[in-house]
Amino acid sequence: MAVSPESKRKGPGGWLTEVGRSFFPSMGAKEWRDTLRGDAAPRPNTRMRVHTNSFWYHIRPRSLPEEATAWYYTMGLGWMSFFFFVLEAITGLILMVYYSPSPNEAYETMVKIMNDVPLGGLMRNVHRLGAHFMVAVVILHMLRTYFTASYKAPRQFIWFTGVILLFMTLLLSFSGYLLPWDQLAFWAVTIGSSMADAAPGVGPAIGSLLRGGAEIGAGALLRFYLLHIFMLPMLTIILISVHYYAVRKQEISPIHELFTNKKPTKRKIPFLPDQVFFELAVIMILTFAFIFINNFFWDAKLESHANALETPQHTKAPWYFFWLQGMLKLGDKIVWGLGIAGIVFGALFLLPYIDRNPSRRFVDRKFALVGGIVSLIVFVVVSYGGLPEFGIQKVGSNELAVEYVPVEGEGLIAEVPFDKLPNGKVVYNVYYDAAKDAFVEGEFGINQELSTPGFDPAQLTPEARELLNQLKHDVQHWAEYDQRFRRPFVTLTIEPWLYGQSDPTTTGGLLLAQPFIKQKRATLVMRWTTITEVTTVDKVTGKVTKVELIEKVDDAGQPAFSTYTQSKYINRNGIVEVGHTAPPK
Ligand code: HEM
Repeated sequence: MAVSPESKRKGPGGWLTEVGRSFFPSMGAKEWRDTLRGDAAPRPNTRMRVHTNSFWYHIRPRSLPEEATAWYYTMGLGWMSFFFFVLEAITGLILMVYYSPSPNEAYETMVKIMNDVPLGGLMRNVHRLGAHFMVAVVILHMLRTYFTASYKAPRQFIWFTGVILLFMTLLLSFSGYLLPWDQLAFWAVTIGSSMADAAPGVGPAIGSLLRGGAEIGAGALLRFYLLHIFMLPMLTIILISVHYYAVRKQEISPIHELFTNKKPTKRKIPFLPDQVFFELAVIMILTFAFIFINNFFWDAKLESHANALETPQHTKAPWYFFWLQGMLKLGDKIVWGLGIAGIVFGALFLLPYIDRNPSRRFVDRKFALVGGIVSLIVFVVVSYGGLPEFGIQKVGSNELAVEYVPVEGEGLIAEVPFDKLPNGKVVYNVYYDAAKDAFVEGEFGINQELSTPGFDPAQLTPEARELLNQLKHDVQHWAEYDQRFRRPFVTLTIEPWLYGQSDPTTTGGLLLAQPFIKQKRATLVMRWTTITEVTTVDKVTGKVTKVELIEKVDDAGQPAFSTYTQSKYINRNGIVEVGHTAPPK
């Protein structure tokens, strides 16, 4: 056996080969390989000719220009868009087995999928996070093709089908949003579908066609379900095929056209085995990483059951519609919502015809490149303006209730794992101490009537301690920030609780000793005074003579305290029910 050039290689590889040879004389890596596998396969491999003539090669090219496979060029984003579409299709099919699209059952079947179906929670997580990723990857793919001018002739049609695919991706995600039939779903879709109503002319007709009635109900759920599992995926499959067929026809736009002095590379990369191995490896890594993230680090939320009578405090559109939400805050629904959305999509469709500059070179496209970056910045800023927290005057008591014990969603307390919340009754106070001119923590009171040994605050888990510190910090923040939330005295109580229990003091003692605590109740009681602006107007001239900040007082001239209480029931599965008193003033 001839000594291979491999053994002359420098570096750790060469060293290893040499060490290997000293154990197995004359047998280096290449010789082992030749012995076990026969000669190294030529590229392209003649033995694979039969496969390369097969059906699959009508779909994927036999070989790809080296330029097109450069990872830093396409970044595999078109391909990853397809990966996420397939991932969504597979996990969606599994979820369909257990899901029932009727208002009476949808929510219960979701709870069942999350808790009772083996791997059901994981499937739901993957499906939900996969939808976010698909939208993100499709947008990034669009940006890549924009910045590399791949939409220009002869690829206008690829771009055109791409824009429809973007629209389909958004619709797929939006139609899926309603299916869990929880409060988030219900209200986001109520707002979304009312946008259709706002369109002049056919708008109301489209709105009622979508909803199957005047309001979101059984008709809407069934329609959204059918759109989500049948019509939109079918259209998307057809469109992806057309889109990809067009890419095959035109080939991926060459990189060298982007630069002035770059020469085209003639080299081709054989599809089998090089590209296939690479793609299989990426599929494996992506799938593994995705399952790992979903199993350990991310949980799709399920809020409480949809309720047409209770509007949640902050209705949140998914992140990719924040820009639209931001636009709507600027004014009229028709102009800022539909008008701008229409212009944005219209401009995207027509882009290859608007941009008449035939050159793909970066140096010739300064205007398009700067325009792209500016549009991106505007998109991010408007999306930021669309955040539920932005541009709305906040009331401290409201915000604390929403943050810690929200009517909808989990809140900071429910986010602490069930076992890390105190098992006994803990009463935690935070208030402003005028003598010290600072915010202080009250005693960690433990219900005196409870017969179990007293609770030592040092026993708090780090997670619970962190929660209380956060509460202290937030109370202080709102007291400084909001004139309508002065001198706050905030009490957070966390206590074990049974379903249907009415009075904590009668059964509390028993509960503490029970190992089967199913729920804990978190109650936030807030007392505060309000400072309001009072203007005095001269009766004769009608001019403002005085503007004062006055603390609200009662009949006896004492500061008038407002009180608000809200509770949240948290159970081991993280599914939360809520009870609350009158809304905060
Ligand atoms: C589900 C959505 C989509 C899928 C599965 C998809 C798939 C693909 C694939 C696999 C390619 C081949 C090369 C690459 O990875 O870049 C490609 C190219 C292309 N896509 Fe998409 N795409 C989607 C959406 C879009 C969108 C939203 C646009 C633009 C609005 C777009 C415009 C293009 C263009 C212009 C090319 C040609 C790129 C070039 O020649 O350099 N695609 N697409």
